[in-house]
Amino acid sequence: MRVLVIGSGAREHALVLALRKDPAVTALVAAPGNAGIAQHAQTRAVDPSSGEAVAALAVEVTADLVVIGPEVPLVLGVADAVRAAGIACFGPSADAARIEGSKAFAKDVMIAAGVRTAHSEIVDTPADLDAALDRFGPTWVVKDDGLAAGKGVVVTDDRLAARDHGAELLENGHPVLFETFLDGPEVSLFCLVDGETVVPLLPAQDHKRVGDGDTGPNTGGMGAYTPLPWLPQETVTAIVDDVVKPVAAELVRRGSAFSGLLYAGLAIGAEGPAVIEFNCRFGDPETQAVLSLLESPLGELLNATATGTLADVAPPRWRDGAAVTVVVAAENYPGRPRIGDVITGAEDSAQNTASSVLHAGTESRADGALVSAGGRVLSVVGVGADLTEARVNAYERIARIKLAGSHYRTDIGLAAVEDRIQVG
Ligand code: AMP
Ligand code: GLY
Repeated sequence: MRVLVIGSGAREHALVLALRKDPAVTALVAAPGNAGIAQHAQTRAVDPSSGEAVAALAVEVTADLVVIGPEVPLVLGVADAVRAAGIACFGPSADAARIEGSKAFAKDVMIAAGVRTAHSEIVDTPADLDAALDRFGPTWVVKDDGLAAGKGVVVTDDRLAARDHGAELLENGHPVLFETFLDGPEVSLFCLVDGETVVPLLPAQDHKRVGDGDTGPNTGGMGAYTPLPWLPQETVTAIVDDVVKPVAAELVRRGSAFSGLLYAGLAIGAEGPAVIEFNCRFGDPETQAVLSLLESPLGELLNATATGTLADVAPPRWRDGAAVTVVVAAENYPGRPRIGDVITGAEDSAQNTASSVLHAGTESRADGALVSAGGRVLSVVGVGADLTEARVNAYERIARIKLAGSHYRTDIGLAAVEDRIQVG
């Protein structure tokens, strides 16, 4: 099987590494990829958001399967273009990707499917802002009503900060979405979905805030760990049965059947799980941790999903233990990051199975030096017999990386290790 992976983050680096281990995968091409991915796959330039360009590249490299990593191409219909060229594609149609791309569509589907989620209202004029602030609170959730890579959301107890964010979005012509605050620890549950067939992967937890102790602004994700020692298996089963399956069935009923990875982001509150958001693709940085524990061949699972035969393959097998991803971010991230700094100590050795360094915003300079090229620069993954050991392995590896001005969280997975996470 010849596989083309679309994207350029650490998530795609993790997909490439897992696909490379699958004996059925005979060739691996990544586009556009990054400096780390280029060590494991042939890389090609492409505009990932152009269906025409991606489909043409898939034909040119005679791909049997195209795997689309990021949400923007999916929302723009790149998977449809690949399928129209007669090539199997892992990733939903534009129609089904609205579950992530349109918050209004997602809410509508969830309500029809009877799934618990936050109440929301859209405000599109500054005159309505104060009345909306009165109806919500004392913790305000203020969102950009569109794709914002996790950075368009402000969750705050400070009414003025909530108002400022709403006003700024409106000034830039973006409608503002207010939501009721969902309390409780967050879970990311990734499910392979092929119509009504739903196969969950290991549950993971992201760390969205930039600073230790969940302080500072939201980011695209500063780290993650899996599995979740504090989450009972019955809750995972309940999420699959009461949240993901009804949503998958509702999408089928609407003629927008989902094929690919459906990511449920939930808060586990006193009354049970409630959905914060759905995403139409693998999450970043959770994927880097989750796939590092996967023992089953990933190519087979993705291909079965893409070709409508997911119900026929054995469920994924996982190695015992735990995995932690820690993101190394550039100076000033999540603001405009400083780029072009030299990175040293990021070389990976295949012999080392306790940790790995996955690339996100990196590129090779003309003189061969590895330099930073984005906000989230690297994902360091530690694997161990338990979460404590996985953390030690990740942080020992990170200590050898040098990147001027960079920062990372030192507490990824720590609250779980210290048994500080309460459900309900
Ligand atoms: P989103 O861009 O919708 O994924 O939101 C980013 C992050 O903001 C989520 O992962 C949560 O940590 C937080 N968040 C979003 N919506 C809510 C909500 N209704 N209640 C509590 N936290 C939320
Ligand atoms: N981990 C957050 C996301 O992928 O959206």
